[in-house]
Amino acid sequence: MKHVLSLETMSADDMRRVLDLAVKLKAGRADRSFQPLAGQTWAMIFMKASTRTRVSFEVGVQELGGCVLYLNPGDTQLGRKEPLKDTARVLGRMVHGAIIRTYGQADLEEFAAYSGIPTINALTDSEHPCQVLADLLTMVELCGGYEGKKVVFMGDGDNNMSRSWMWAAEKLGFQFTVCAPEGYQPSAKDLAVFTSGNVTIEPDPAKAVAGADVLYTDVWVSMGMELETPKRLVDLQGYQINSPLVAQASPAALVMHCLPAYRGQEISGECLEAHAGTIFQQAENRLHAQKAILSLIDASEAG
Ligand code: CP
Ligand code: NVA
Repeated sequence: MKHVLSLETMSADDMRRVLDLAVKLKAGRADRSFQPLAGQTWAMIFMKASTRTRVSFEVGVQELGGCVLYLNPGDTQLGRKEPLKDTARVLGRMVHGAIIRTYGQADLEEFAAYSGIPTINALTDSEHPCQVLADLLTMVELCGGYEGKKVVFMGDGDNNMSRSWMWAAEKLGFQFTVCAPEGYQPSAKDLAVFTSGNVTIEPDPAKAVAGADVLYTDVWVSMGMELETPKRLVDLQGYQINSPLVAQASPAALVMHCLPAYRGQEISGECLEAHAGTIFQQAENRLHAQKAILSLIDASEAG
């Protein structure tokens, strides 16, 4: 595995290898003899805010024997418009890998191409692959696996999270239903690439949650979309995960959220607290899934 730029470009075998290793690394976290990043320095370029992703990568790199450099636009020349491709060529000569949170997927891909070092997507406007891998690990732990399961994604069905979920469902063999109103669903063109039949749209929440193993949600206003906040809060009102909706799903259904959560918007406060065990297990699993990714990336393949 050379980079993790998206689940669109990651093979099903690589996803399974990450999940298998994550299970082992989680169970053996106390044993620090596994140090695949010993002697390495990884750069973390974050153009957007982060709590979970930043902390889990910083801790993960260190637990695997490496060092991290956290770089943000305010402290680097990126904030003064130095081209990303120049930053990439500088870092490519100094560090062993890069973890990038930014806006355009094309920027991430440009960094990977110009730097020549392994590059990991820590969230773009298009995908959030590390989060979905951590969520699949949580399903392995709490649902006994993901194959054949049904995940329903409520709310903004056309964002980075739903896109990574669609690719996971397509490749790993589970049902993924987007439950969103018109204007917040993936376009017909975007959907056309999913040919397995695993990805479906159902705008009626009661119909969507029938038979679901997981009810999933994410913020209604993703980073970068703040100007649309008033409209989104109105448009998505009927798509909250709350106790009456959960009551229409099977009693065993999990409620999952990638966090941060906005209580009273995409999820009720009561529902978030009732399912906090699952939701914070997802957050913890960021660390274990990303340690697996870091361990499986082969720096010698990058270019
Ligand atoms: N879920 C997630 O990526 O959280 P952060 O934005 O805090 O990193
Ligand atoms: N869709 C959200 C995910 C946050 C982890 C965003 O991009 O802000």
